Amino acid sequence: MKAIGVIGGTGVYTPDFVKDASPVKVETDFGNVELIKGTVNDRKVYFLTRHGKGHTVPPHRVNYRGNIQALYELGVERIVATAAVGSINEGFPPGTFVILDQFLDFTKSRVETFFSEGKVVHTDCTDPYCPEISGILKEAMEHFGYPYHMGGTYVATEGPRFETRAEIKAYGILGGDVVGMTGVPEIVLAKELGMCYASVAVVTNFAAGISDHMLSHMEVVNKMAELNEKLRNILSFVIPEIPDERHCNCAKAPTSGE
Ligand code: HPA
Repeated sequence: MKAIGVIGGTGVYTPDFVKDASPVKVETDFGNVELIKGTVNDRKVYFLTRHGKGHTVPPHRVNYRGNIQALYELGVERIVATAAVGSINEGFPPGTFVILDQFLDFTKSRVETFFSEGKVVHTDCTDPYCPEISGILKEAMEHFGYPYHMGGTYVATEGPRFETRAEIKAYGILGGDVVGMTGVPEIVLAKELGMCYASVAVVTNFAAGISDHMLSHMEVVNKMAELNEKLRNILSFVIPEIPDERHCNCAKAPTSGE
């Protein structure tokens, strides 16, 4: 069976849902990447924490290409990610889990591709999140009875600042449901390598201008700590349920333009 990749976002720094954890280092074209290897119900897992241990890497400096290449080189085909998000949609209050199905990209400074030179590759992103893994995330929500929403549009901002009231209003008009700083280009890079990527977003706060108070990273971290056990239960449920054989079109997403 192939290993499952897990990318932990804000508030998910240790794979406490993983047994027999041991460190692994992978050399990539973009530097060394440190991961944790382990198992969940005998299913092999590679876990990496997006912001580094102790949350030292800001969103615009995450080694997105290194992280995805490391998982790819370890033989991972299927990735489950977590993302702390602010809510633009008043129907998704803090504490809600959102199984993402679309994104809007407002990042500015990030390299979004493995294919800048040589081969020209155009990757299909019509429905970017893996429907098969997303379906298993839904099963987990139903199983545990957690408040969730199947489908939601993730707005990726550059950060590290929070948004203005006007930006959030505009994102809402454009169809955004939640906002975060790291989901793109992570998913795009995974898709370029034909990998499956699904993401469970955890609403930690109402976004700027919807919230009745100023935003802080502390609020996000505290809410994630409160929801940590639920998230751990979700990942423990989902990982062993992901089939080895893929019943989705994710592998076909990258197509050569040559
Ligand atoms: N904005 C951007 N990123 C976030 C937020 C937010 O309100 N909450 C958690 N991550």
